[in-house]
Amino acid sequence: MRDSAGKRFARNYFYRRIIPSWLSTEQIRTNHVIGLLGKSPSELYLMDEAGFTRGHVNSLESDQSITEWQKTQGWGVKIHHGFLYDELPKIIKPEKTFCLFNLDVMGSYLSQTHSVMGEVLCSCLKNSGTVVATYSSVGRDTEMIWEGIRALAIFVLISPEDILPVFYSLSRRYERAGYTEPFHLALRDIFWLYSIMENGFVISATAEQSSPYGFQHWNAAVTKLWDFISIKCQAPLRLEDLLGFVEEFRSANLKLVQNLANHWVQQLLDISSLQRLVYKNETSLSQLCHFARFTVRQTPISAKWWLEKSCALMLSAPFSYITEEGAEHKIDETVTIIPKDRNIILWDDAGLYLRFRHKEVTQNKEMQMAIKTTRYIHENELTQEGIGKIKLLAKQHRDYTVKEILALLPKSLSENEKIRKSAAAHIAVARRKNN
Ligand SMILES: C[S@@+](CC[C@H](N)C(=O)[O-])C[C@H]1O[C@@H](n2cnc3c(N)ncnc32)[C@H](O)[C@@H]1O
Repeated sequence: MRDSAGKRFARNYFYRRIIPSWLSTEQIRTNHVIGLLGKSPSELYLMDEAGFTRGHVNSLESDQSITEWQKTQGWGVKIHHGFLYDELPKIIKPEKTFCLFNLDVMGSYLSQTHSVMGEVLCSCLKNSGTVVATYSSVGRDTEMIWEGIRALAIFVLISPEDILPVFYSLSRRYERAGYTEPFHLALRDIFWLYSIMENGFVISATAEQSSPYGFQHWNAAVTKLWDFISIKCQAPLRLEDLLGFVEEFRSANLKLVQNLANHWVQQLLDISSLQRLVYKNETSLSQLCHFARFTVRQTPISAKWWLEKSCALMLSAPFSYITEEGAEHKIDETVTIIPKDRNIILWDDAGLYLRFRHKEVTQNKEMQMAIKTTRYIHENELTQEGIGKIKLLAKQHRDYTVKEILALLPKSLSENEKIRKSAAAHIAVARRKNN
């Protein structure tokens, strides 16, 4: 089957417009990339044109015959066979630096991509400025719409003043693009944002920037919210009903809501750039793409603050609709249309979806150490965070030698002569009288 005109537009736009403006030539040349190249070299040629190094390209493919065909092409890239959710974690080796994940799947973001976003964002935490493209086929993805409804309820609990303008405004843009179920499209975006937020909390906890118990409290609280809503919920579920349930929950759980928004979880990754695009794929299904760039924060922020920043970005992010002929329509609606009544039907089917999956904080030691290394050493020098950690350990363990202190930190610190000397000096300073 030939590529659709929309697909060709999206691919060219991503590699010729977005990549050169979001990644440096140095990153492109030296870092690793992951793509689902499929059964033609089109994407690979665009990678060449952008300056990526073939030996750093990883192609992942679930179809056995396409994988075999790829192996006969002499592309000079690493070819991996398997599904994203199985194979991607094996490809992301802690010692490798990736700057691009182009996860060009067919199927819903929820079923295909959400489960690996923890690993992807973990890699982003090690390489600030990493670009991640994710795709979702708009079709029979009921589960993703329900997850979007739940995510909307959680966001409304944290910050209604930030999320509702995003929900209305995105819906309005889809309406202008000709979609007859614009709210459902916007709910897919809302779930995408929730997935980034949730996975971001998990890896921030993995990097020990927030407590794993905080994330357990978060899970318990959002479960409690949805249990509360699901008891009251009847078909059709209208926006005004959902908002009413959330407000009832808030009034009965003021302290919990405050902890959820401000204290329990911390976020280290910002979505620093975002573009959204919709095109028709070869089977005439719409593909919703999120092209995002993630940067690492020096100090973590709360759920409420992160949501506020991310919502501002969602509102200002460029959005284009690509026609079946491949023509681009930029939909730059900036005015947020707030409907007078909140009678919008979010879901009109009788069944209520209850199979939500939670993320867990994994204690992946290898990953933790890799993250810490990048946070403690930068360009062969200790970072402020690294110095702070060493000084803290020096005071906590006053009888430990320099070697013993360094043994508590990632191995790469003690393997580096310059870092070892610098650490010894900081330990001595920290242990001086009055320090
Ligand atoms: C949309 S095509 C890729 C097109 C290519 N990126 C381009 O721009 O020309 C997706 C390819 O990935 C494979 N694929 C789809 N879903 C996958 C998944 N979840 N894991 C691994 N491979 C997948 C498909 O068999 C197909 O060959």
